[in-house]
Amino acid sequence: MPMTSGLKNARVLVTGAGGGGIGTGAARKFLEEGARVVVSDLNAKGLDSVLDLFKPLGEVHGVVCDLTQRKDMDNLVSETVRILGGIDTFVYVAGSPKPGIFMEQDYEDWENGGRLLMVSPAYMARRVAEQMLKSGTKGRLVFTSSFAIREPIANIALSNVARVSIYGLVRTLARELAPKGIRVNGILQGYVKTARIDQVASDTSKRKGITVEQAIADIEKEIPMGHMATTEELARSIIFLGSEMSEYVTGAMLPVDGGILRSIG
Ligand SMILES: NC(=O)c1ccc[n+]([C@@H]2O[C@H](COP(=O)([O-])OP(=O)(O)OC[C@H]3O[C@@H](n4cnc5c(N)ncnc54)[C@H](O)[C@@H]3O)[C@@H](O)[C@H]2O)c1
Repeated sequence: MPMTSGLKNARVLVTGAGGGGIGTGAARKFLEEGARVVVSDLNAKGLDSVLDLFKPLGEVHGVVCDLTQRKDMDNLVSETVRILGGIDTFVYVAGSPKPGIFMEQDYEDWENGGRLLMVSPAYMARRVAEQMLKSGTKGRLVFTSSFAIREPIANIALSNVARVSIYGLVRTLARELAPKGIRVNGILQGYVKTARIDQVASDTSKRKGITVEQAIADIEKEIPMGHMATTEELARSIIFLGSEMSEYVTGAMLPVDGGILRSIG
């Protein structure tokens, strides 16, 4: 039988989708596959632009949510269930914590970084899984993270430390939910061309006294495939984990990084 994503009319929630980056790219691909999609973001204006852009592609709705606020996350899940009637695939994409080296981070930075990168994915997983269990949905949860949780990157100490918890979340929840038919996986994305990269490159250019273009070229030299991923390239792997194409995969953290990771295991 030819392989298809089976996502026609699937009910999909994607967070961090209002900035034209990884979440937006994922939401577009789900729409192209015929899914019914709720896109969410902290930035209401950005979300409106994405909704305008996506309306011709299919059924898409927007819900504003700050992933560091419990009330917002509760509202996002209940609104999505009200609009779509349930959730088949949940894709977690968050914003980025403050950049900087370890010794520049203070107590409040760890509190904020931890709330965004550790508490928020765990709480969203809890609320979404609760809905799937209640309705008997054999759903899929996909958590984007970063290749930096396998090989820490200089100058993003908060991310290197706090994001590692997503690995534990995926492994723990996958085992708990597999007997109920719910799969939980993650993505270790490498460099993806988005506004986040412009921010990182501009920070590096100031620190090193080089141009932004040079900072980007220096990163691309380190990638065996020679270029950063497009959001479309990353979205294809998110579709794989967020659909029945990966039906026997759970608890996996899939590197999608153009070969940049060197470590084994
Ligand atoms: N782009 C890369 O190369 C890369 C590589 C590894 C990891 N990442 C990580 O992947 C995630 C997405 O990256 P991106 O490049 O798409 O970033 P982006 O900045 O382009 O998009 C992030 C989106 O999240 C939203 N957001 C920020 N804080 C939020 C909050 N508290 N609640 C809800 N939404 C919020 C922003 O408004 C934005 O629309 C980030 O956590 C980033 O650190 C990115």
